Amino acid sequence: MLFASPEDFARAAALRSELERLDYHYYVLDAPLLPDAEYDRLFRELQALEAAHPELLAPDSPTQRVGGKALDAFASVRHAVPMLSIRTETDTEASGAFAFDGRVRRELKLTENDPPVEYAAELKFDGLAINLRYENGLLVQAATRGDGEVGEDVTENVRTVGQIPLRLHADQPPPVLEVRGEIYIRRADFERFNARALAAGEKTLVNPRNGAAGSIRQLDSKIAASRPLSFFAYGLGEVRGWPLPATHSGVLDALQAFGLPVCAERAVLSGPQALADFHAGIAARRRELPFDIDGVVYKVNSLALQQQLGFVTREPRWAVAHKYPAEEALTTLLDIEVQVGRTGAITPVARLAPVFVGGVTVTNATLHNQDEIDRKDVRIGDTVIVRRAGDVIPEVVGPVLDRRPGDLPRFNLLERFPHCPVCGSHVTRGEDEAVARCSGGLFCPAQRKQALLHFASRRAMDIEGLGDKLVDQLVDAGIVRTPADLYKMGLMALANLDRMGEKSAQNLLAAVETSRQTTLARFIFALGIRNVGEATAKDLARHFGSLDRLLAADESALTQVPDVGPIVARCLVEFLGEAHNRQVIEELRAAGVQWEEGEPQASVAGALAGKVFVLTGTLPTLAREEAKALIEAEGGKVSGSVSKKTDYVVAGAEAGSKLDKAQALGVPVLDEAQLREMLNKGAAA
Ligand code: IVH
Repeated sequence: MLFASPEDFARAAALRSELERLDYHYYVLDAPLLPDAEYDRLFRELQALEAAHPELLAPDSPTQRVGGKALDAFASVRHAVPMLSIRTETDTEASGAFAFDGRVRRELKLTENDPPVEYAAELKFDGLAINLRYENGLLVQAATRGDGEVGEDVTENVRTVGQIPLRLHADQPPPVLEVRGEIYIRRADFERFNARALAAGEKTLVNPRNGAAGSIRQLDSKIAASRPLSFFAYGLGEVRGWPLPATHSGVLDALQAFGLPVCAERAVLSGPQALADFHAGIAARRRELPFDIDGVVYKVNSLALQQQLGFVTREPRWAVAHKYPAEEALTTLLDIEVQVGRTGAITPVARLAPVFVGGVTVTNATLHNQDEIDRKDVRIGDTVIVRRAGDVIPEVVGPVLDRRPGDLPRFNLLERFPHCPVCGSHVTRGEDEAVARCSGGLFCPAQRKQALLHFASRRAMDIEGLGDKLVDQLVDAGIVRTPADLYKMGLMALANLDRMGEKSAQNLLAAVETSRQTTLARFIFALGIRNVGEATAKDLARHFGSLDRLLAADESALTQVPDVGPIVARCLVEFLGEAHNRQVIEELRAAGVQWEEGEPQASVAGALAGKVFVLTGTLPTLAREEAKALIEAEGGKVSGSVSKKTDYVVAGAEAGSKLDKAQALGVPVLDEAQLREMLNKGAAA
């Protein structure tokens, strides 16, 4: 190996300083100067130079950020200046700022005639406190707080944090400058990291704070290097040979000038009211910040006054943290129950030992679905992190694995709840579906109102006047439980309902009466079977001709129907296989709901057989329903939304988003004349 030439030295130094500058713009200013590929090229050039001539390697080289050999243990570091904590108060009102200001003024022996005290107000970042030691501008050591006196040497990990300069930006850097601040993870970085980890089947981080703290405590710095860590400076440790600015805000300005990231969300304020306003203003915008905070910090701005105020035990008298109510807390997962939604969706709900979080006592939290339970690996009996941010529904973030008592069994929703807790029907879950569902759609009280509204809707049984308010009343008064009950209602019971005169009651009964005579297709559609829309209902009616033949069909017979695939077939089998639903169907027939039955028809031969149309806008002469009937008479189908399966979109005046979508998907668009032409060809054939 050749010794490096003077040119090599110069080139390595130039590359280092250029990469340093690029890092600073990329990580700290969040404004990259070069495309990634260009950066990588310079980076690899420096790496190659250093590999060829190890004497070129410098501890502040940007190549030293990528993580090196794993350690066996962290060395202990005694802090030159103890890392103290601040007095922390949980404060939801303004009073905390006034109490703090009162203490400061009393301690400084100020009277009412003295001017207000000047404070620096900043955010309380939610991560891990760190001490960075720079000697002659070079980062030589990074240590955790530990017990405040002795921390752990985490230099290798901290080097991987792109936002932390390996060398201070200064021509004459101080001989010793210790910078204190917080390592944290931004929310968006956290989400992105977890999404990637999830896709790669790797372990996800529980929350940004744990992620930050955990990353810095890894013995293998390659792990820290892979985590999206950020840093904010908020104070000083030991300083030698550097004239201190007069104020804390001046210190932060100076640190910023040294190339350290300092949060822009800070203010110099006079008197307690301004502090209280800062507190309230940040509270209101807490969710919009790109990172988690757990409160605000007020510090007396003058360093001379700070010195005068001094410390009580381990806390300075010149600072206080006012925390917001915690958004996360630990509690025990006592049990998992389920809730049945209006559409039959079964949602697992965590029953929790009561815990105060986000300002309220929480006893339940959503677990979303089985996949989420599996992903988070939460088990009954676990200690879990519960999160309630703002007014968002509380959720279980994940278990604290260290506290898992022995071997807890995994939770399986379908095993634990084979039957709907509301109606006893089967609970099923489609292969590709996240959500488990109750299959007793016609019978289940949880789904009652939804089922009735759909049953009565215009394209189904078309019971005029039976809208959501009336359905609410009928169900709440106990007059109607299933659609079959609609055909058993009496005038008296109806007339007694709120805002229902005898006349309206008669009208409703007449509408119900009219609906008794229907078509098989409408009846099938009215049952509200998942994934069985109007078009599929028509196909089924045409194919089987009679309800009994449909009821007798198994999955393979169902998939013979044009356009009925395995998913729809499965939905039909589950729905019709549920005894509770069969019972309601029989009651409907017994109540006199009827239709004309026919012979099974393998498929319609028509000019438009098998073609799927979508209608949009106003056609010049044909009403929507007329166009639809004509298309269907020729064996075509009319669907409500444009997809890749759509064969034609028929567009009239003021066609909207469906037309745009058709154009985007390259679906042919017809006008009325072209549609008629297609229909005529069919009629002529
Ligand atoms: S000042 C002597 N400022 O809160 C005062 N601390 O107990 C030293 N923290 O774990 C702390 N944001 O890591 C200060 N803007 C901020 C802070 C902050 C978060 C953390 C710090 C420590 C705790 C203080």
